[in-house]
Amino acid sequence: MTNAAQSLITQTDAAIAAAAVDAAPMPILIAPHAVLRRKTREVRPEDMAEIRRILPSMFSAMYEAPGIGLAAPQVGLGLRFALVDLGEKEAREPIIMINPEVIAESETLAAREEGCLSLPNQYAEVTRPEKVRVQWRSVDGELIEREVDDLMATCMQHEIDHLEGVLFVDHLSTLRRNMILRRLAKEQKQKR
Ligand code: NI
Repeated sequence: MTNAAQSLITQTDAAIAAAAVDAAPMPILIAPHAVLRRKTREVRPEDMAEIRRILPSMFSAMYEAPGIGLAAPQVGLGLRFALVDLGEKEAREPIIMINPEVIAESETLAAREEGCLSLPNQYAEVTRPEKVRVQWRSVDGELIEREVDDLMATCMQHEIDHLEGVLFVDHLSTLRRNMILRRLAKEQKQKR
């Protein structure tokens, strides 16, 4: 684990994520579910008790999938928060971001293959700012600000997009996006 990633993890986040082993995974919504397209509202202090209650089940869903990020709309919640964990099963690196915002982005871009638990089995190369400065509140209300790059930058931008009702396919050409969404619909139909 890099020092940069380590410095993002709070004791509270680690304890909540550890509780995932005893929590039933929440079902993850699949595109084109309407909730995935809705902009979320800011989390208020009075929402935190409920959010803390469901977080272990959200981590459980993300770890079971398995995935490296999960945003509230993906489990049907219209609230501005998301989880990220780039760690390994034996060395989790959970980060809970309440009201996250990208506050600055690099001019240099980077392309990386992305997938999404709400678009299972669909992958595409997405170009985004290479580095971003992200601000959020911890579960304990502490204001956190970090500059991230590499996979962490991709992952945080992807999750923050979800909070705006944006999916990774929205960064592609219309042709490419429609192709992926049609393929997903076909695969989901075959599964039923
Ligand atoms: Ni996603």
